Amino acid sequence: MCGIVGYIGDKNSATDFVINGLRALEYRGYDSAGIATTDGGKLIYLKNAGRVNSLAKLVAENGNTYQTVDSKLSCGIGHTRWATHGRPTKVNAHPHTNADKKIFVVCNGIIENYQELKSTLEEKGYKFVSETDTEVIPHLIDSYLKEGEDFFTAFKMAVSDLRGAYAIATYCIDKPEVLYAARLSSPIVIGVGENEHFIASDPSALINNTKKVIFLNDFEVAEIKADKVHIESLDGAKAATGEVVELDYEAEESDIGKYPHFMLKEIHEAPATIESATRGRVKPSINTVKLGGLEAVKQQLTHIDRIIITACGTSYYAGLLGEYLIEEIAGIPVEVELASEFKYRSEPFTRNTAVIAISQSGETADTIAAIKKVEDYGILKLGIVNATGSTIARITDAGVYCHAGPEQSVASTKAFMAQVTILAEIALHLSDGKSKLFSPLLKELSVLPEKAKKVLEAEPQIKELAKKYADCRDFLFMGRGYLYPCALEGALKLKEISYIHAEGCSAGEMKHGPLAMIDENFPTVALAAEGPLLDKMLSNIEEIKARKGPIIAIATEGNDNIERLATDVIFIPKVREQLQPLLVVIVLQLFAYHIAVNKGLNVDRPRNLAKSVTVE
Ligand code: AGP
Repeated sequence: MCGIVGYIGDKNSATDFVINGLRALEYRGYDSAGIATTDGGKLIYLKNAGRVNSLAKLVAENGNTYQTVDSKLSCGIGHTRWATHGRPTKVNAHPHTNADKKIFVVCNGIIENYQELKSTLEEKGYKFVSETDTEVIPHLIDSYLKEGEDFFTAFKMAVSDLRGAYAIATYCIDKPEVLYAARLSSPIVIGVGENEHFIASDPSALINNTKKVIFLNDFEVAEIKADKVHIESLDGAKAATGEVVELDYEAEESDIGKYPHFMLKEIHEAPATIESATRGRVKPSINTVKLGGLEAVKQQLTHIDRIIITACGTSYYAGLLGEYLIEEIAGIPVEVELASEFKYRSEPFTRNTAVIAISQSGETADTIAAIKKVEDYGILKLGIVNATGSTIARITDAGVYCHAGPEQSVASTKAFMAQVTILAEIALHLSDGKSKLFSPLLKELSVLPEKAKKVLEAEPQIKELAKKYADCRDFLFMGRGYLYPCALEGALKLKEISYIHAEGCSAGEMKHGPLAMIDENFPTVALAAEGPLLDKMLSNIEEIKARKGPIIAIATEGNDNIERLATDVIFIPKVREQLQPLLVVIVLQLFAYHIAVNKGLNVDRPRNLAKSVTVE
C-alpha cells in the first residue's frame, strides 16, 4: 500500500508539506520514495530507495533546481512506494515522468492493463526506463497532449484507458498552478485550506493543516487549484459530489506519543475506544441505546428477519461475535460471510435481509465488492466503519462509525474493540428493549472502560509470559461460545505480527483433530473466563494437560481452581459473558505484541501485509 501526498498553494512550502506528509504515511509500508515539487519557481525532482528521511536528506543536499518553473505558488507531489510491479529501486520509485520530464505521476494501486498500454506506447516510439505499471500514465498523458488535447482532457483520457484499482496524483510544470487527481478503488482525499489545497492517500498526512476534506469517489477526477477544486465523474451514470466533510479526530491522535509502537499505543487506547463507541449511544440511566446513524433506516430495520455480516480478517472475527450477540439479544438469524467468498456466492436474499459490512479502513476491496454485489437486490446495506467518509461509509445506506480515531498499526486492535462494542449496541437496538439482557448489558457497557484499564494493568505479567513462550513455533488458541471468535482473533494477532504458526479453534473441536498436535512443545492459550461453558473448558484443559501440553489460561478473577490445571494464568475482572471478548482480547493483543517485540520484528509494519487491502 503506497502513500500519495500533494500540495498547491501560497502558505506552505510544497517540498516541506510533501516530505512531512510522506513521513506521516510511512506506517503504510514503503521501500522507496520520491518527490517532484516547485517552491519559489524552482522544481526539485528526486527519488531514492529507502526511508523518507534519506529522501529528505537528499532534498536538503541537492537543492539544485532541475528546472525553473514560471509560478509564484508552491506546488507538487510525493510518494512512498510498497513495491507491487518492479523491484524497490530508485528507478522504480515514483514520481514517474515523460521523456521531457515535465509530467510527474504518482500512483497507489495496480494498473491491470499496463502491459497492453505499454506495448501500444512503445509502438508509438515511447521509451520506458522502469519496471513499473505506473510509468505508462505520464506517457499516455503525453500522447494525448500531442494529439492537441488540453491537459485536463489528456489526463481524463489517460485515466479512462486504465483498468485496475488506483489512486493517482499528477503535476505538470507546464501547468504549474494545478494538481490533478483520480480515484478508482484506492482512497485519495483532498484537504481544503485557505487558498491552498492538499492531497493524500490518508487524512493523517494532512490533518495538521486542515480537518475539512473531500473524499474522491470511484471514477472521479479532480482539477485542483489553490483557490478551487473542480471534480468530474468519468462514470457517466453518476454526478460528482465534491462534498466537504469534517474529520472526526485531532491531529495528535495520529502521533505515536510516548509509545515505542503504534500497536501498543492503540492497545492502550482500549478504554477510551469503548468510551467513544458508547458515548451518546448507551444511556443506562434512561435504559436506552441510541444509534443516530441508524435513525434514517429505523423503520426498515423493524422488518429485517435475516442479517448477513460481511468483512475480512479481524473485522470478520468481530462479525462472528456480532452473530452471537444479535442472535442472543435480538433473536434475529445472522450469518457471517468472509467478503472474499460472499462476493462470488450466489445465495437467495429477501427484501427483509440486511447486510452489515464491517471495516476499519472502509477501503477493503473485498468488502467493497461484497457490498456492491447486493446493490441490485435493493436490500438494506449498513456499515460499521472507523475511517470517516471512506468508501464503505459512503456506499452503504446507513451505519455506525467506530469513532476510534486513526488506527495506524497494521494489526487491528482498538478498531476490533469498537466494532464489537457497536455490534453489542446494534443487538440491543434491534431487541428494542425486549431482551432480558438489555438493562444488564447497558450497565456493563458503561463500566467496561474501567475493567479494560484493569486488564491493561496486567501488562508486566503478560510481557513475562511472552518472553517465556517467544521461541515456540506453534500455538493453539481455544475458546467456547463468545470466546470462540475471540480465540480466532487471538491466533490472527499472533501470527500476523510474530509470524508464528497459530490457529484458533472451538474447544469442543479439540477431540475431533487438533488434540493430535498437542505435546510439550505446543502451547495452548485457553480462554477460560467465568460462564456456563467453563466446566467444559476445564475438561478440555485437563485433556491437554494429560498430553503434557503447556496451557496459558485466561480466567476470571476468583477462579481458584484454574491455577491447579494451567501452566500460567492471566486473570481478568468479572464481566458479563457477552462482553468477555472485549477484555480477553486485550490480553491476547498484548501477548502477541510482546512476543513480536521479543523477536525483534517490525511490529507496526509486519512483512507482506498492508494496513488496508485496497486491491482484490
Ligand atoms: C487485522 O489485524 C489485519 N490487519 C487485517 O486482517 C484486517 O482486519 C483486514 O484486512 C480488514 O481490514 P478492514 O477492517 O480495514 O476492512
